[in-house]
Amino acid sequence: MFGNISSFFSPDMAIDLGTANTLVYVKGKGIVLNEPSVVAYTIKDGVKKALAFGEDAKLMLGRTPGSIEAIRPMREGVIADFDVAEEMIKHFIRKVHKRSTLTKPRVIVCVPHGATPVEKRAIRQSVLSAGARKAGLIAEPIAAAIGAGMPITDPTGSMVVDIGGGTTEVAVMSLGDIVYARSVRVGGDRMDEAVISYLRRQQNLLVGENTAERIKTSIGTARMPDDGRGTSMEIRGRDLLNGVPKETEITQAQVADALAEPVQQICEAVMTALESTPPDLAADIVDRGVMLTGGGALLGDLDMALREQTGLAISVADESLNCVALGTGKSLEYEKQLLHVIDFDS
Ligand SMILES: Nc1ncnc2c1ncn2[C@@H]1O[C@H](COP(=O)(O)OP(=O)(O)OP(=O)(O)O)[C@@H](O)[C@H]1O
Ligand SMILES: [Mg+2]
Repeated sequence: MFGNISSFFSPDMAIDLGTANTLVYVKGKGIVLNEPSVVAYTIKDGVKKALAFGEDAKLMLGRTPGSIEAIRPMREGVIADFDVAEEMIKHFIRKVHKRSTLTKPRVIVCVPHGATPVEKRAIRQSVLSAGARKAGLIAEPIAAAIGAGMPITDPTGSMVVDIGGGTTEVAVMSLGDIVYARSVRVGGDRMDEAVISYLRRQQNLLVGENTAERIKTSIGTARMPDDGRGTSMEIRGRDLLNGVPKETEITQAQVADALAEPVQQICEAVMTALESTPPDLAADIVDRGVMLTGGGALLGDLDMALREQTGLAISVADESLNCVALGTGKSLEYEKQLLHVIDFDS
């Protein structure tokens, strides 16, 4: 007679508010939204008005006229532009949240392990003013490990390396919590910048962020190709010598060269983590290997480069781009077992 009573209540939600992508998970449904963390604004008489979010806004990055601004509110894993982030979260929550429900949802968001109390408060505040009834926080490496299906509650050491757009987080976990974590501000964005500066230096060619990212995801590699060249792709940019558009070719070997520094920094972060891990847990990691998550884990041959440098077995998680969102979402489903790692207080 009253229909399904549970449909009047909002299901809990989990948000992976990433530097590059924002994902929303709804309890019982899984990932329902996955969009770039970008907002485009029109600016008229000094007043900003949101024009597009997510995918639509990302297409505008680097292509806006003076009256439009495309902004990425998250930088290096934390909120860089508070108002824009809040508007973006609001938009995404509204997009997935049915208005017909009586209550506001409880929302859990993951935050970098190294986030400061001020940064955590900013994220919590944004989520609350975006319409959440309660906002919980969980450390990103824990979410990544849960999402990758690692047995983090066992009394054994496991290591997860989450390579996102803004940061790489290396964490050693045991008994459901973090024993050691280190975050370095190197990730996909830094790789894109490395490609841009390589092309500027070596070929006097200026390319935008979107082009650099496309080069990286299409032919990017962490290791010099065996034949010293690898495959190649056509790219377009502006010739810095005469200012006109130019088309040229870039090889995998050149991309490997361009990416050498950020790749090295990621390897060093893993080595430092290993050196700082208590010996018994380090021995477990030698046995079990290291799990890579995040979009950066998809860089060609990164697993092999890490294996060569560390001597450890390295695996790339299934659905590595979704691990953190899946893990944050699963933490809702297993809330009782994970109470000690979810922080629902203010
Ligand atoms: N095939 C690929 N090769 C290399 N990099 C890739 C590939 N696919 C995606 N990426 C990169 O992964 C990054 C996005 O990953 P992810 O969604 O995990 O980041 P994020 O969670 O938004 O960032 P963060 O965790 O730092 O806040 C982007 O920089 C993107 O260019
Ligand atoms: Mg991430």
